[in-house]
Amino acid sequence: MNKRQIKTVVALGCLVALALTTSATGQSTSKLWSGDPVADRQRLMKLNGASWADAQAKLKAGNAEAVAVNAETMALIATQIVALFPEGSLTDKSKAKPEIWQKWPEFESAVKNYAMQAEKLRDAARSKDLAATEAVAKDFGRQACGTCHTPFRVPPPQQQTPAPPQQQQPR
Ligand code: HEC
Repeated sequence: MNKRQIKTVVALGCLVALALTTSATGQSTSKLWSGDPVADRQRLMKLNGASWADAQAKLKAGNAEAVAVNAETMALIATQIVALFPEGSLTDKSKAKPEIWQKWPEFESAVKNYAMQAEKLRDAARSKDLAATEAVAKDFGRQACGTCHTPFRVPPPQQQTPAPPQQQQPR
């Protein structure tokens, strides 16, 4: 093998490595979201429901600090919501109301409000102050989730209503 051949082999190796890296990244992105926005946002919302239920159970047990991770999860979920409601993504499987796209700026403010409330809950929890965390949590279901669900989501009578959860379990 002369120098030129070695160079070619090295260059090819680099190209293969690059191709592998690129396809690995591509794969993980397509695995994260299915490509069906309705299925993806419902999956995300289920995680919302689970995070909020978990936060409430921890508060009931008097563990304010542990709520921070749930609130941070919800704050990150908030950053994904808008992208999962593209125009024209209303199917018969969806519980979204057409008002979302008719009043898009209001929908966006509901998302912003949700992110703000989640951060408020997270910061209260991080301060380890149980009373302060409970004070934010008391209105969270209605103010963070309900503010969006009421105008923008068809309430599903056949499913259990996820929000506001504190109405289901009065403390
Ligand atoms: C900015 C609007 C918005 C906010 C904020 C929001 N949701 Fe939702 N949520 C929706 C919409 C719209 C749907 C219906 C989506 C669909 O079916 O296409 C939904 C659906 C759901 C579902 C049903 C998912 C399924 O399996 O079909 C659950 C559970 C849920 N939300 C929980 C929550 C909880 C808990 C919160 C607050 C912590 C929350 N959501 C905050 C808009 C919102």
